[in-house]
Amino acid sequence: MDKKLGVKILGTGSYFPKKVLTNADLEKMVETSDEWISSRTGIKERRIAKKNEYASDLAFNASVEALKAANISEKEIDLILVATITPDMFFPSTACFLQTKLGLNSSPAFDLSAACSGFIYGIAVARAFIESGLYKNVLLVGAEELSKITDWTNRDTCVLFGDGAGAMVLSASEENYDVLSTYIGADGSYSNLLFIPAGGSANPATVETVNAKMHTMKMQGRDVFKVAVLKMAYAAEKALELSDKKLKDIKLFIPHQANMRIIEAVAKKIGISMSRVFVNIYKTGNISSATTITALDEAIKTGKLQKGDIVELIAFGGGFTWGAAVIRI
Ligand code: ACO
Repeated sequence: MDKKLGVKILGTGSYFPKKVLTNADLEKMVETSDEWISSRTGIKERRIAKKNEYASDLAFNASVEALKAANISEKEIDLILVATITPDMFFPSTACFLQTKLGLNSSPAFDLSAACSGFIYGIAVARAFIESGLYKNVLLVGAEELSKITDWTNRDTCVLFGDGAGAMVLSASEENYDVLSTYIGADGSYSNLLFIPAGGSANPATVETVNAKMHTMKMQGRDVFKVAVLKMAYAAEKALELSDKKLKDIKLFIPHQANMRIIEAVAKKIGISMSRVFVNIYKTGNISSATTITALDEAIKTGKLQKGDIVELIAFGGGFTWGAAVIRI
């Protein structure tokens, strides 16, 4: 009998725009302070893309790095997935723009919209395609330019977000089972707590919607906070259960970097010490679908993870959506 197909993680990469926006810079833009932002969120600075630098450009740079780490040619990629809520355009997909930038023209390519849980959803989708035998090598990217959907006059939200991209190459294997489990969930009844009201078919863009800044993110921060902690802890437990691993088997927990206080509350709820949790939010801000993958890439590059280590990625986002994945590096 044929062996079951598993998923091997071949390599990761990441890319951040050059421009750094510090809390001191924000103090000059809105009524806020480094003290308020640091103590409430853990964020010190974030990266901001240039006007003519698109999500697909960040995705391309991260992909080049991931392909290099994977030691595989772009020509061997047979499916491109991009998780994003800040696509270059509504359509064509950012995955199609990325495909062209990579010099490819026939592999299927599509975007995936699950807000900050996008990369975890992407691992689940890539895994399903690979394990079913449909595709062999999948390029999965989380790419965001949240700076372009932020209201820079609203201190409630503008201090939280940033730009960046991360990529992973996943491949079919009969020997390697690097994706031990994925768990994803959603509850659309929370859609009014974190959303962009206009620009879609519900409220097509008009002069009025733009003047009212309805094309920028709106958020009920306190409510998001509470549900995020509950659902991230729940997803972490479910994915662990599905992986047949125990808390002690996980070398590093990599939660979505939305807010330091959310991360600490999730760690407490799961019952792990912060020394086992990877944090880089202080220099990235919240970059939605790109947080877990860029954090994973940094943990690998800085030697916090070694080949064979088991990691749990945990995320939560607009929708609401949530998810976790237990993977071997
Ligand atoms: N600087 C200074 N003061 C501010 C700022 C700011 N940037 N933003 C808000 N305030 C003020 C408010 O106006 C309010 O003033 P008031 O008491 O005079 O009315 C006061 O600070 C307290 O505001 P709250 O919103 O109650 O502050 P809170 O302690 O809840 O912190 C925060 C706000 C950081 C947004 C928090 O609710 C949070 O982290 N929520 C989670 C949201 C999140 O992470 N969203 C990301 C997207 S979802 C995701 O990725 C999981």
